[in-house]
Amino acid sequence: MLRTHTCGELRKTHVGQIVKLCGWVDHQRDQGGLVFLWLRDRYGKTQITFSPESGNSVEEAQLLLEKARQLRQEFVIAVEAEVMLRPEGGENKALSTGEIELRPLKLEILNRSDVPPVQPSIPELPSEEVRLQYRFLDLRRPEMQRALELRHRMIKIMRDYTDEHGFIDVETPILGRSTPEGARDYLVPSRIYPGKFFALPQSPQLYKQLLMIAGYDRYVQIARCFRDEDLRADRQPEFTQLDMEMSFITMDDIMGIMDGLMARLAKEILGLELTLPLPRISYQQAMERYGHDAPDLRFGMEIIDLTDISSECSFRVFKETADAGNRVRAIVAKGHAEAFSRKRIDELTTWAQENFGVKGLAWFKLADEKTLQSPIAKNFDETLQAKIIQRLNLNVGDITFIIADTFQTSCRALNGLRRRLGKELKLYDPQTMHFSWVVDFPMLEYDTEENRWVAVHHPFTAPIPEDAHLLDTQPQNVRAAAYDIIVNGFEAGGGSIRIHDNALQQKVFRLLNIDDQTAKERFGFLLDALRFGAPPHGGIALGVDRLAMIFAGLDSIRDVIAFPKTAKATDLMTGAPGEVDEKQLGELNIQLTKHEK
Ligand code: AMO
Ligand code: AMP
Repeated sequence: MLRTHTCGELRKTHVGQIVKLCGWVDHQRDQGGLVFLWLRDRYGKTQITFSPESGNSVEEAQLLLEKARQLRQEFVIAVEAEVMLRPEGGENKALSTGEIELRPLKLEILNRSDVPPVQPSIPELPSEEVRLQYRFLDLRRPEMQRALELRHRMIKIMRDYTDEHGFIDVETPILGRSTPEGARDYLVPSRIYPGKFFALPQSPQLYKQLLMIAGYDRYVQIARCFRDEDLRADRQPEFTQLDMEMSFITMDDIMGIMDGLMARLAKEILGLELTLPLPRISYQQAMERYGHDAPDLRFGMEIIDLTDISSECSFRVFKETADAGNRVRAIVAKGHAEAFSRKRIDELTTWAQENFGVKGLAWFKLADEKTLQSPIAKNFDETLQAKIIQRLNLNVGDITFIIADTFQTSCRALNGLRRRLGKELKLYDPQTMHFSWVVDFPMLEYDTEENRWVAVHHPFTAPIPEDAHLLDTQPQNVRAAAYDIIVNGFEAGGGSIRIHDNALQQKVFRLLNIDDQTAKERFGFLLDALRFGAPPHGGIALGVDRLAMIFAGLDSIRDVIAFPKTAKATDLMTGAPGEVDEKQLGELNIQLTKHEK
């Protein structure tokens, strides 16, 4: 072995030992007769002090000092050295090895480095483009190494937990047929069958259902999924799920298993005790009270409805909105009126208009206990003002923001505003974690662009049994046996009870405007399987990257993925996607119609 210890390992108890360390030069400080060097590896940093005391003689000390002066950032070196106690007062509390330093005996340069475009030793970061282009350097940064270690520990816990609960890991194909999860497919052309394509899985959804039918009643897989969709900070074109499926279970069983896993992760990774079962809120309530199906419940600031009061007022926008059957709803920033000057309110208004397409943003402060203050206050008589003050429980010092629009738009805007204010006004401690379930989703929603019903979850999700009879007459009122797990306002996972009855599955396909012929072509194997003794089953998939991001307290999913794609779905390091030569295209029977060099 080139090394006896890692750079994060040595303590007081090692003093006097001769050790060998390898690593990267983190930084080097030349103080004339002394050279202080920090050696870094994944485990930490250790100080090596080159001085006249180094080596076994004055000559050796001189040679070592000279060699140390040649070292530059990110050189790879090996040292043999004696572990020394640092002089009193010289300890460095910021380093795990800060009690000791090394007196070098031998120094070998294992490799040199050009000046690194990403410097792992300093907290200031270059642009994300540079970080992604030189990802191998970026990954040397202790923050990245901590994030990937945390992700590893989370996956280890997931594997242990599912194993203890009788799940077996089964791999499913990457080259397969598309499963619709609402995104575009990544396609792989078949060389052997011209004109035919594999689709990379958007999830292993159908395979795991087939495994249930095959009798593997508890399946798990850390599965890679591929979706060609618009990217955001919490989305990647390829990402990882903890994918699970169970037979002979109810919704409560699956949610219970997941509760247990969350409690274990929270405890072992963050040292938090979760109270189980995790709280549940219905989709309807989530939209009414928070404007979003993955509400951030770390703080209150619930949405309050003012539609009934608005229909009595003379402010045209509010009254017309209420009369048209749309909604006037508000959130209150308690005690924060002072923070909102007219200028800041104008900025917020523009932001809301640009981001959510609202027509405006109304607001009230209180002039005194009984009087609303705002440019539009004159449109509300004394009685109405009293009603508003009472409904919103307003006190002097509060400010309320109100949006009059369709239910959907007001949800989007108030959710956005609520999240923004929650963060800016520091309404929660960023260390807290909030876990909850959202249940009772609608099964279908009407897509006005495509003029058809679409599945809110996916087409294999079962209705809640007591709603099933409404499928023919009131599809909009059928609730799905589906559940999402929400952490800090992110959808961390989602699943459902599946349809295990062939006739019901066909009926749902028809409702979704998938005709029998198409259903047979695309999902014939599933419909077949449903005729051969399919057990009742259901499951869930957790977004591993998203959950790791949340647990690591980071804002971007890219920071917990070793080699992520950019927001434009490219890999800046390898240059993927790249062009291929004509020969390859020829073999695949592909002719490009138009593309730019
Ligand atoms: P769903 O599509 O809700 O369900 O995905 C489950 C979870 O995967 C994560 N996720 C993503 N993470 C990163 N980048 C993406 N592009 C991305 N898309 C989804 C989310 C999400 O909650 N087959 C069903 C599960 C089931 O019914 O069992 C499915 O894939 O955290
Ligand atoms: P206006 O009558 O258009 O000058 O608007 C008066 C105030 O009402 C301004 O503060 C607008 O931002 C606000 N406002 C306009 N439309 C809406 C709306 N749909 N919802 C909430 N506030 C609005």
